Amino acid sequence: MQKTFLMVKPDGVQRGLVGEIVNRFEKKGFQLVGAKLMHVTEEIAGQHYAEHKERPFFGELVEFITSGPVFAMVWEGEEVIATARQMMGKTNPKEALPGTIRGDYGVTVGKNIIHGSDSPESAEREIAIFFKEEELVPYTKLVNEWIY
Ligand code: PPS
Repeated sequence: MQKTFLMVKPDGVQRGLVGEIVNRFEKKGFQLVGAKLMHVTEEIAGQHYAEHKERPFFGELVEFITSGPVFAMVWEGEEVIATARQMMGKTNPKEALPGTIRGDYGVTVGKNIIHGSDSPESAEREIAIFFKEEELVPYTKLVNEWIY
């Protein structure tokens, strides 16, 4: 089964959207296999956003993600990486469709509530930045028989 890294950003945590976001992925049929409320250090932020180092908003990105607690998660399921990105909506909430997380709750591109891995390579890299192997909890979910 595919795994992805999802993170409720500081704006989502402050606005009380953690439960709503977890609820959406659970109801969709994906399985939560790791989660923690944590502060992102500058070091972790630098690793996580390394590919954006040269972009003009990099400083803003690091400042924002380190500004308050985030809720880091690993979700598992068939095609979970691409499907989670669809459920999140476009990066810019102005372009995100209603029914998506950013379309329903986001207003500005900087504070867009949630991060999700964009490829299997990013998912593997990002999961390893935020979680130790023993923090992931594989288990059999019987309801999956009704989904797959
Ligand atoms: S993506 O999701 O990687 O395709 O989006 P991308 O446009 O490449 O943006 C990468 C991350 O940078 C954030 N972002 C910004 N932050 C502040 N200001 C501006 N103008 C801005 N533009 C993009 C965007 O939310 C992405 O963050 P993550 O955490 O990856 O969603």
